[in-house]
Amino acid sequence: MGGKLIPEQYIKALPESLINQIAAGEVVGRPASVVKELVENSIDAGASWIKILIREGGHRQIKVSDNGQGIATVDLPLALSRHATSKLATLEDFDQLLTLGFRGEALASIAAVSRMTVTTRMAHVDQGASLSTEGGSEASVLPASHPVGTTVDVRDLFFNTPVRRRFLRSPETEWRHIETVMQQMMLSRFDTGFTVSHQGKVIWEVAPCETIEAKEARIAKMLGEALMQEAIRLDFRALGLQVSGWIADPAYTRTQGDTQFWFLNGRWIRDKMLLQAVREAYADVLFHGRHPAYILYLEMSPTDVDVNVHPAKHDVRFRDPNLVRTTVKRSIEDTLAALRTEKLPLSRTTLPGMVPYTPPPVPAFTPEKVMAVLPEVPIVNAVQKTLDLPARSTTAVPEVRQDLCETLVATPCQHPAQQLGTAIGQVHQTYILAQNGAGLVLVDMHAAHERVLYEKLKQAWAEKAIVTQQLLIPVSVQVNPAEWQFCRMHQSLLTAAGFHLEFTEQEGAVFVRALPAILKQQASERLLQAILADCVAEQGEGN
Ligand SMILES: Nc1ncnc2c1ncn2[C@@H]1O[C@H](COP(=O)(O)OP(=O)(O)OP(=O)(O)O)[C@@H](O)[C@H]1O
Ligand SMILES: [Mg+2]
Repeated sequence: MGGKLIPEQYIKALPESLINQIAAGEVVGRPASVVKELVENSIDAGASWIKILIREGGHRQIKVSDNGQGIATVDLPLALSRHATSKLATLEDFDQLLTLGFRGEALASIAAVSRMTVTTRMAHVDQGASLSTEGGSEASVLPASHPVGTTVDVRDLFFNTPVRRRFLRSPETEWRHIETVMQQMMLSRFDTGFTVSHQGKVIWEVAPCETIEAKEARIAKMLGEALMQEAIRLDFRALGLQVSGWIADPAYTRTQGDTQFWFLNGRWIRDKMLLQAVREAYADVLFHGRHPAYILYLEMSPTDVDVNVHPAKHDVRFRDPNLVRTTVKRSIEDTLAALRTEKLPLSRTTLPGMVPYTPPPVPAFTPEKVMAVLPEVPIVNAVQKTLDLPARSTTAVPEVRQDLCETLVATPCQHPAQQLGTAIGQVHQTYILAQNGAGLVLVDMHAAHERVLYEKLKQAWAEKAIVTQQLLIPVSVQVNPAEWQFCRMHQSLLTAAGFHLEFTEQEGAVFVRALPAILKQQASERLLQAILADCVAEQGEGN
């Protein structure tokens, strides 16, 4: 074989269209990321109202219209090209950055993987302009009529990237991701109105909020009335930082960390350090395994934070993470402490439904009896120790449960040291003090009560013998759309578990007609909400 003189060229420059499609992967993961990018652009354009129209979970169409400043006709082709932005000119501008966008990537990326039309008009011109592209193809600007503002209409996402298209989930699942993004958006900007519709139906319509009450009403609409009833407002400023928003009373907890929102300078972010700071602040007042709920806003100078860490901009880097952490923690601890002081006198008197505790009879001790049981060694170095028991939420004090003491004592246990023996009394209305052969036993009443109920329920489930209790008046339970869908899809399973549910057309609520008799003392609303949140979260993990 003769030697080849023409050198083979293995490295080739990618065509522009392919570069754009690959880059799009970073920005456009799924329909929800398109929605996020377009809504962020509308917010940056100063819109006071944004309309979002979705068809088939965004598979077919995502259309975002705003009444913002619009795009100049001459700028329109640039707006759709990569690395072109009006929001940043030099690296120093990052220090002043208050817009959500800055990369000049979003529109170009979306255009590369869809059929997109942008129509826009600025206030000082009579004629608007429009530009349509297919997969980012060259296109010319045409005159068009449009009210002041911009509409971006995205159709057939990933039509030209079949691999990516195959990775799209069902319209229902994609719609759920869009809902999550929209929740973040609507909670991040109270001064903007939003109309969100799916399949021709308006799902959310919220007007710009001027008062605290209006903001609270918006949160209640997004995350449920139950949360807002337990929400405490917080506003804390120190050392150039502002922490404000709402945190839930520790009596309102979630089984998942699904109601935890952080916004930094108007941008939804996900930051481990912030989550941890809140968890620590709540540590003493939360039951084990429960999660706090909050919507918190952090404001600081853009010079003290870098948002250019990750293409999706969820992750940020603080210049002084310690300062942020301690300030956040303190603001929450102070708020919770003030709440405790406020509630303390009430818990010392009586709470509604509280049964006075009668201690079990203690045998009368005579000096002879005491001498008989005391070991014949002198008690030296007796240590007097105060046990530092975690304080419980003052509103979550369970009733003093004589019957529980009895059940616990009656519960058989193989290990003698774990037997509960005889209940002696109660500490802080939270712990049962008992004595057994090995000494004193301290039982967390709440946890024990839960365990007893759980064991009984488990057994009844195994025997298919869950006894239900009909409610005289059905209880309406606020649920989010994902939970509502879950109830509809798994109604028979829930019925078998003892929850008889009814539905109306309204996706925000289900009605409980009956629940397991054993749980009838529980607040049925919270109980069902907690169960559904768990189920939906688990289902989500499977996606
Ligand atoms: N709804 C809108 N109203 C007014 N101008 C817009 C709108 N959407 C986009 N633009 C203009 O188009 C430009 C490009 O938008 P694009 O989203 O691609 O980039 P960006 O927002 O600057 O940065 P990023 O990629 O971080 O989002 C913007 O800088 C802005 O000038
Ligand atoms: Mg943008």
